[in-house]
Amino acid sequence: MKKVTIRDFVKKKGKEKITMLTAYDYPTAKIVSETELDGILVGDSLGMVALGYPSTVYVSMNEMIIHAQAVARANPPQLVVVDMPFLSYEVDIKEAVRNAGRLIRAGGEAVKIEGGEEVKDVVKAIVKAGIPVMGHIGLTPQRYLKLGGYRVMGKSKEEEEQLVRDAEELENSGVFSIVIENTYADIAKRITEKVSVPTICIGSGPYCDGQILVIHDILGLSDFKPYFAKTYVNLKEIIGNSIRQYINEVREGKFPEKQHYKEKKELT
Ligand code: KIV
Repeated sequence: MKKVTIRDFVKKKGKEKITMLTAYDYPTAKIVSETELDGILVGDSLGMVALGYPSTVYVSMNEMIIHAQAVARANPPQLVVVDMPFLSYEVDIKEAVRNAGRLIRAGGEAVKIEGGEEVKDVVKAIVKAGIPVMGHIGLTPQRYLKLGGYRVMGKSKEEEEQLVRDAEELENSGVFSIVIENTYADIAKRITEKVSVPTICIGSGPYCDGQILVIHDILGLSDFKPYFAKTYVNLKEIIGNSIRQYINEVREGKFPEKQHYKEKKELT
């Protein structure tokens, strides 16, 4: 597959649905790279699904760098977007630009930042440095404490109008795309029709320009599966059964078989 650039990604709006998944490591990125997926997100969800943290606020810049490097080593043709972790962009704009640059040097081709209106100056500064930025509005997991938990956003008219304003401010600040997480499908539709950049839905219905899911959820590897994710295969069961079969075969002397070892006496 031909390399997907930011320009290719943006041009798909209104023409072809954009497909994205998360990936956090080399073997997964290798498998993804042999598909026609448009984009990989090295998401900070890795904190929960790959590192076992209770939330994404524990994920550090160094951890994001290690996982971005692992994905980049697979040379995927997909556009590689890397999440800026909690506190890597909120404290100081100069520090945010430097951190975005570190994620690009690690192999990212764009960074993703959670937040709307409140992050517009950071977005402008990073874009000014030549780094493409993907926005992320709706449920922003790094702010789950302030939001009062992981909930559907946009229930009140005030919250809905704020979401629309957030999308417009992000577009004006120069983002190339916006993830809309966990809001009502009709609000995501309203935003998608309003902004000129592609919107990517997660848990926000079918009307966005594209969809993204956490790869562990579609592969049946997650302990907790959100209601909006679809599981295409139960890898947890397949892996568990394979391990059980291996244990039994070793115990019963069925593994290793002749093709799995060599004997020196065969040399003569
Ligand atoms: O970290 C992540 O996986 C994300 C997606 C859920 C959009 O931000």
